[in-house]
Formats: sequence, C-alpha cells, structure tokens
Amino acid sequence: MESAQVNLGTPCSQLVAPSLHGAEVLQISAAEVHNYSFPPVRGFNMPGVSDVAFCNVTASLRHTGADDTVYVYVWLPLKDWNGRYQATGGGGLAAGMGPLLMSGQVADGYAVSSTDGGLTKNQTVDPQSGLWALRDDGSLDEALSLNLAWRSIHDMAVVSKDVVRQFYGTEPKYSYWNGCSQGGRQGYAAAAKYPHDFDGILAVAPAIDFVDMVPSDYYPPVVLRNAEEVPPECIFPEYQAAIIEACDTLDGVADGLISSHESLEACSFDPDTLVGKTITCGEDCLDRDPFLGWVHVPCRKTSELTITPAHADIVRKILAGPHTTAADGDGNSRRLWYGLAPGADFDVLARVALIDNGTHPRREVVPFAVAENWLKYFALQDPSYDMAAMTHEDYVAAHELSVARLGPLWGNQNLDLAAFRQSGNKLLTWFGLADQYITPFGMIRYREGVEEKFGGPDAVDEWYRLFFAPGVGHCAGGVGPNPVNPLGALVSWVEQGKAPDVLAAAKTTEDGVHITRDLCRFPKKLVYAKGDVNEASSFICSEEEEGEEKEGGKGGEKEEEGGGDGDSDGTHRKERHEEL
Ligand SMILES: *[C@@H]1O[C@H](CO)[C@@H](O)[C@H](O)[C@H]1NC(C)=O
Ligand SMILES: *[C@@H]1O[C@H](CO)[C@@H](O)[C@H](O)[C@H]1NC(C)=O
Ligand SMILES: *[C@@H]1O[C@H](CO)[C@@H](O)[C@H](O)[C@H]1NC(C)=O
Ligand SMILES: *[C@@H]1O[C@H](CO)[C@@H](O)[C@H](O)[C@H]1NC(C)=O
Repeated sequence: MESAQVNLGTPCSQLVAPSLHGAEVLQISAAEVHNYSFPPVRGFNMPGVSDVAFCNVTASLRHTGADDTVYVYVWLPLKDWNGRYQATGGGGLAAGMGPLLMSGQVADGYAVSSTDGGLTKNQTVDPQSGLWALRDDGSLDEALSLNLAWRSIHDMAVVSKDVVRQFYGTEPKYSYWNGCSQGGRQGYAAAAKYPHDFDGILAVAPAIDFVDMVPSDYYPPVVLRNAEEVPPECIFPEYQAAIIEACDTLDGVADGLISSHESLEACSFDPDTLVGKTITCGEDCLDRDPFLGWVHVPCRKTSELTITPAHADIVRKILAGPHTTAADGDGNSRRLWYGLAPGADFDVLARVALIDNGTHPRREVVPFAVAENWLKYFALQDPSYDMAAMTHEDYVAAHELSVARLGPLWGNQNLDLAAFRQSGNKLLTWFGLADQYITPFGMIRYREGVEEKFGGPDAVDEWYRLFFAPGVGHCAGGVGPNPVNPLGALVSWVEQGKAPDVLAAAKTTEDGVHITRDLCRFPKKLVYAKGDVNEASSFICSEEEEGEEKEGGKGGEKEEEGGGDGDSDGTHRKERHEEL
C-alpha cells in the first residue's frame, strides 16, 4: 500500500471533536509528538521503538444519561501512514493498555487507538483494582460495566475513524481490532455487537466465559488456603514437568510439548505418582510492600522436600477445577468450571510467597488480583469481604453469584457471531494450549458451538479461524513456539483474500535451540511425521481423531459418560464439556 506522503487533511492542532451517537464529546486535544520512544517489553515479544512521530489525539466523552468520562487515545503517524486503522484492546479489568500496545503499532505505520472505557474514573483509579465496579452507594455501576462489555469498543472506533479522516483527508482503507485476553474477549464482542466496525479482528486468548472463567482463576488460592498448610511453591514446577512428561507422547512424539487439543483432552495424570519423591526446593522471598504490592526481597531458601499426599491433593483439585460441594440429585458434585490445563504453569494462579524476616519464616498465598477483585467487587459486591477467609462453600456461592448477577451482561450469549458471518469480515484467534490464566477448554467449547451453529468447521473457516499453539502461555511466552506475525496473517486474509492455512510459530530456547511449528487450524492438529522435532516441516496438520490412528492409550475420549468424577483430574472430553 502506498504511504500518505502528503497529508491532505487538517493539521494536528486543528482537529475538532467528532460527533457520535449516544454520547457527547467533552473535550479534544491534539498535538504533535516527535522522537517518541518506548522500551521493549520482555515476555510479550515486543521490541522497543524509537524516533516515532505522530499526532497525539485525546478525546473525552460522556454517554447520554450516564456520568462517565471515557478517554479515547488516537495516535496518527506523521509520515508513512500505512492507510490502516487499528484499535487495541485491554487486559484484566482494563479496557485498554494505552502506550504498551499502541507504541509498536504506530511505529509500524498504523493509526492506532486505545480507550480507558471510563474505568479510570477520570484517571483517578487503576482499572485492575475493580474499584470502578461499584458506585458510591454500593450498587453496580452499570454504565461502566456496559462500557467494558462492548460499548467503549464502538465509541473508540467512531472517534478514531473520524480523526483519521480529518487528519489524512481520507477514510482508513482497512480497520482492525487487535487484543489479547480481555482484549481478545473485546474482539469477540466487537464481532458480535459491531460486526461492521472492523474488517479484521485479531482476538488472541479471548477471555470468553468471563463469569465462570474469572472466578475459577481464584479457585487455586482457595484450595491452598484451605489446605492443612500452605505448601512451598516449588512443588508446582515439579508437577508441571511431570504432567508434560506424562502426556508429551500422546501426540506421537517426545518433544516436550503437548501438541494438540486432543492430547490435552486425553491427558490423564495422577498427582499421587509423585508422592514420596524428594526434591530440592528453591524458594525466593517475597514481601508485602504497602505501596508496591509484592516485592522480591534478597533471600533464597534451598531445602530438601518430600512430596506428600496433601500436596498431591492440592494439585488434584487445581487440575480438576472448582466443583460444587453439595451432591446433586445423582450423588455427584457438579463441575463449575475447568481446572488448570495440563502442562500449564501453576505460577500465576497458585502463587505462594515465602516471607522471611529472619526469625519467623511463613508462607502466604498470593492470588491473581484480577480474579480477587472480580469476585469482591462484581460478584459479591462487598468491598469489606475478607477474601483470605474464603472457604470452599463460600467460593461456590461467590462463583454462582458471578454467574447469576453478571451472566446477563458478560455471558457468551452476547458473543453471537451470526451478523459477523454475514458481514464478510474476518476473525482470527490463536490460543496457547498451556495458557495459565484462561483454559483452552473453554475456547474449544465455544468454537465447537460456532461450528455446530454455522455448518461445520469448513464453513466457519471462511470467516473465523482458530489456531492452537502447543506449550504457549497466556498471550505469549511458555515453552512452545509463539506465533510470529499473526496480525500480518490477518491483514493478508482481509486485504488479499489469502486465508491462513497455518500460522508460523517460532522460539529460540535459552540454550539457543531454534524451534518452529506451523500451527494448524482447528479442528486439525499437529501430528509428527518424520525428521527433526524442532522443525515445522517434520509435522503435518491432521484431521483424524487420535483414536483412529493409534490403538488405545488415549484414555476415555470415546467412552460413554464416565459417571461423575468428583475429584478425579477429569481428563475425559465428555466430562470436560458435558458436565458444565
Ligand atoms: C531522541 O531521543 C533520544 C532518546 O530517546 C535522544 O538520545 C536523542 O537526542 C533525541 N533526538 C532528538 C533530535 O531530540
Ligand atoms: C498525549 O497527550 C496527552 C494529553 O495531553 C498526554 O497526557 C500524553 O502524555 C501525550 N502522549 C505522549 C506520548 O506525548
Ligand atoms: C477530569 O479531571 C480533570 C483534572 O483533574 C478536570 O480538570 C476535569 O474537569 C475532569 N473532567 C470531568 C469530565 O470530570
Ligand atoms: C518477624 O516477624 C514476627 C511476626 O510478625 C515478629 O514478631 C518479629 O519481631 C519479626 N522479626 C524481625 C527481626 O523483624
């Protein structure tokens, strides 16, 4: 695409407030920024940028009948605009990540935007705190909830496209959504609610099933706190490695990766197998800082530790996911949501801090703050609730409140893609099979529902493609090869009609080993053919069910209902999906 060498529109400083339906623009400010730089973000595979010049637009708006203040940030490259507009999404309980996601994109030539959705309450609160959930009188702030659920996506698109047109004197040729996690969920909400806003939507690891998924991220802390004693965190990497080892070859090759969604579903691991094993347990100390939250303090404890039945029980529960305590009619407890995916890192959800001031070493559970804040402010709507005292029964009640109170706004019924399918626009998702925050099983279930509704995988692939990435964590990271340029794949699909058949992924390990994979589009899966396990070309994308290729070994994915399972590690496909 040719770049806009000559800017035929309005100078940056003279941009005027756009008008939009259902809201009033309160203020707009715009000024050129030169020589902008942003550091690389490790863990998100984002290189730093430098010497970028753009028109920095900030607009604030208020919805009719609400008292919110929503900020929309738009950055317009001063030179080499690629003719495209890109909206970026949020993460956790935030509607947007601001410069973190905008910097790389503006450097790549996109006119790029982010919004706070009003959740910062005019830049006075951190949205991740969840403090925006409740109004001063303690009731749920429905205007702000609606903003995050989907309304702020459209506001941002309307405002941004308007300033793009003013500044460049032309509409963006193509518009994209780009987000992961909350931002991925927003991508699905954009498709469902505003199917014509974006030509292409990149929605990575979407936080769908929000009302079940977010509470379930708080289940590991509840398990840990209600155990006989809080174990040292070092048991978890031991278990993660054992799970990967146990299930690595289900896909036919020992490469350190559980390579397909089917092997993930078939992965059966008995935590008791590690009981009695003695390990060297290294722990770093953390301490609570009144201003910074948890901080590392200089201390490292190394000791010998023998894994106990109590440790195994903790792991079993975390893998099984939350269940009701009371037996239902058939005598079984009901699964509320999936547990941690086999092979995923336990670290973020089952985090334990060693606190050692020299005389009184103790361990404290460090929950994932977003899950805690969701339960406290959104589900329980009780800022004084003592989360550390939550029992298993309390957890179940809170989970059920999340579903009952928040399901109408946040449930997947609001992610219906019927109109998007008609729009001709494209939706691309990739998802790490070792995602440690959001279970891949929810993604499989949602996608299979879409396939069932819209004529099967091939028909759906015309407009919506899903790629699972073995061994990859949430949004990025993990031991597996990460997708290299998924946005580029989406752009080629939208603009040249080149639908991605596979998604290239790569990783260089700490030892300098380069591993590549061509990720398959669901429901196809990676199967080893022959050659170097580090090479993408050694694998094919197969459509056959694993049970068809090999005898036995796959556990019960074809079995009839396995009769409840209460506390088993719940590996069967039927149990995983039909119990819910
Ligand atoms: C641009 O910024 C860099 C630091 O980010 C600085 O070293 C350099 O001098 C700046 N250049 C100009 C022309 O201001
Ligand atoms: C863009 O403008 C806003 C509002 O004036 C300002 O707060 C922000 O720092 C500016 N961004 C950059 C990168 O200069
Ligand atoms: C937001 O806060 C700023 C700075 O404190 C203030 O000047 C402005 O009036 C506030 N805007 C609204 C809409 O409340
Ligand atoms: C360590 O913590 C304990 C319990 O909070 C306290 O009683 C003790 O005085 C502390 N020791 C030091 C050296 O700060």
